[in-house]
Amino acid sequence: MLMSLWLRLAAFLAKSLLWLLGLGLLGWALASAWWAWQHSGPVSAQEQIPAGETAMTQEVIQTAVRIVDQHRDNTRYLRDAHAKAHGCLKAEVQVLTDLAPDLRQGVFSEAGKTWQATLRLSNGNAYPQFDSMRDARGMALKLLDVPGTQLLKDRQGRGEQDFVMFNHPNFFVSDVAEYRQNVAAQADGKKVLAFFPGWDPRSWQVRHLFIALATLAPAPTSPTQSTYFSVSPYKFGNANAKFRVAPDPDSCPSYTLPAQNQALPNFLRSALNQQLSTDRVPACFVLQIQRQDPRAYMPIEDTSIEWQESDAPFETVARIRIPAQDFDTPALNLQCDNQSFNPWFGLEAHRPIGGINRLRKAVYEAVSDYRHARNAEQ
Ligand code: HEM
Repeated sequence: MLMSLWLRLAAFLAKSLLWLLGLGLLGWALASAWWAWQHSGPVSAQEQIPAGETAMTQEVIQTAVRIVDQHRDNTRYLRDAHAKAHGCLKAEVQVLTDLAPDLRQGVFSEAGKTWQATLRLSNGNAYPQFDSMRDARGMALKLLDVPGTQLLKDRQGRGEQDFVMFNHPNFFVSDVAEYRQNVAAQADGKKVLAFFPGWDPRSWQVRHLFIALATLAPAPTSPTQSTYFSVSPYKFGNANAKFRVAPDPDSCPSYTLPAQNQALPNFLRSALNQQLSTDRVPACFVLQIQRQDPRAYMPIEDTSIEWQESDAPFETVARIRIPAQDFDTPALNLQCDNQSFNPWFGLEAHRPIGGINRLRKAVYEAVSDYRHARNAEQ
């Protein structure tokens, strides 16, 4: 009697397990199909500005200034993001001599042309911390003496073209509305609310939480060994494109960086110093463009979506060479801190597009003005 009861219980449990497994598989298949349906082309090749974006942008500016104030601890006013620099370096950006005619756009119009440039390498965090902490790593590149009308009225005559990147291909939010909600929660110290703003599971941003966790990655051995992505899209002449800067060791003398002491707080700066200043070996990168194919799922208004290389490859348009140099002096470091890089400093041919870039236009300017004004008062 007892035996048959056990057998019936075991059969019941086995059946329930099978049902659960079946339901799980069905759920997974349905979710995958829904994801594929939601994330398939074609997409718009034009910007689509949602209602209320301007008001949301003003709220983000207030939060950003609050973050700058929060992180000021008897120091100068620092950047709201990417506060810690590993160094500002002189660089040369040479357009490929045999660049295909359809890739000759904006600052890449003249094949073989070499631009002088400044390049700032940074950690992403809002306040300086040990390089060994998980973080995004930034690269901001400024081409100098660029002729032509600048996008921003008050930057005419500055002759800049900036490319502002970090070393992850997609962003942890899609648009301005989500950024406003996420950053406000973080500034209030409510990290869970950043990705789970309410009880309604439809508001949960699980995928975006994983992007944020992946973006906060362990440090590279040197800032010269990371690939940096624009993350958000830009005009590229009449096309839309993302760009990236990737290491190109083959274009430089071969070099192996001696092991750095990663317990030191600024070992990424030490790595740059070792290569460029002590060992006098240049570093090389390529600058590459990925043009949008609107037939594929390559949206303009969602920075959480990485444009797949299988949909559109990255094409090299220029080579970047960072010559051997002594960059780590108090005067050059202060100059570096006082520089401003901004995706909107540049030409119409490279106009930033999409919601996150429209937001950056207002926020970078407001935060940069705020910290410069406060530092000037001191
Ligand atoms: C597409 C994604 C983004 C990338 C690749 C990116 C990258 C960077 C980098 C590399 C810097 C440092 C620039 C330097 O070296 O001076 C920076 C600074 C900054 N970022 Fe971003 N960022 C992104 C999105 C955002 C967003 C959405 C906001 C806020 C709306 C933001 C706000 C700022 C601010 C306020 C600064 C400091 C500006 C200054 O004081 O000069 N960023 N960003």
